Amino acid sequence: MLEKINNLLSEIEEFAADSKEQVEEYRIKWLSKKGQITTLFEDFRTVAPEIKREVGQKLNELRTKAQDKINALKEKHESASEKGASKNIDLTVPSDPSIQLGSRHPLSLVKNQIIDVFARIGFTVSDGREIEDDWHNFTALNTPENHPARDMQDTFYVELNPEMVLRTQTSSVQVHIMENQKPPIRTISPGRVYRNEAISARAHCQFHQIEGLYIDEKVSFADLKQTLNFFAKELFGTETKIRMRPSYFPFTEPSAEVDISCTICKGEGCNVCKYTGWVEILGCGMVDPQVLDNCGIDSKKYSGFAFGMGIERITMLKYRVKDLRLFFENDVRFLKQFTGE
Ligand code: DAH
Repeated sequence: MLEKINNLLSEIEEFAADSKEQVEEYRIKWLSKKGQITTLFEDFRTVAPEIKREVGQKLNELRTKAQDKINALKEKHESASEKGASKNIDLTVPSDPSIQLGSRHPLSLVKNQIIDVFARIGFTVSDGREIEDDWHNFTALNTPENHPARDMQDTFYVELNPEMVLRTQTSSVQVHIMENQKPPIRTISPGRVYRNEAISARAHCQFHQIEGLYIDEKVSFADLKQTLNFFAKELFGTETKIRMRPSYFPFTEPSAEVDISCTICKGEGCNVCKYTGWVEILGCGMVDPQVLDNCGIDSKKYSGFAFGMGIERITMLKYRVKDLRLFFENDVRFLKQFTGE
């Protein structure tokens, strides 16, 4: 028996496995229920008492050695196969073509471009609310009840509370800001607005605007013009010109509408500018002193300008989109064209 044990001991010592599977084979061969070492332990019962001690020690040594060897080999093969797995990652394999990359919505793209331009000249971004009370959407902006200018904007009223409306313009945010902040104020407010209009290629019941507001001592119409001139050149290219036409808004005095030279025909005349060479992009003016007073700002000390533009309109011009409805249909064939912008 001793001889058998010694043979097994040297077999174990020399043993080297090429694979995890081979290690497992040997574990079964030596240590499983019917394995050689287990069988030797069974035979041990019949060993003559005078050599029992010696054989017992040897047998224990054999079992420990076998277990240690198998554990060591197992570990070696397991960590080798893990390393092999990470070594096998091929970073040059093209990605799965069924996973499509998304793109930003064109309105978000243009909104961010506009924010970027104004941020460079010190304008912050402020948020308002889409469900607004009558005061902030109309009355504070010099448009009291029965004022004819309310007809310019077909309003959605909240059925349960007709004092509340879906805001028809982001000018409502101006009022909140002036009520809550002290001049100097320099901020733009992007957001969604709603009007009860029939949906067509040129009109929608929901769209987006960006409002601008600048209040300080001695702010002049020249500041307004220079700010918008800078904006037009930054957004549409340095060759872009602006012109201002007198207009009317209840909350500004004087008021103007701003055109840019047609970006498509460069002022030559085309169907986008209806052969005038100019396209309207926004409304603006000097904040009416009455509005400043309505919002708690001393109109004797402070003056300011405001402007408001439709993001859809600017986007249609920049990317030559012909139908407003495309912005709200979420057709991937349309949206995909803005990947990488
Ligand atoms: N709120 C106006 C509209 O929706 C746009 C506008 C015009 C905003 C003149 C202004 C402004 O701040 O000064 O048609």
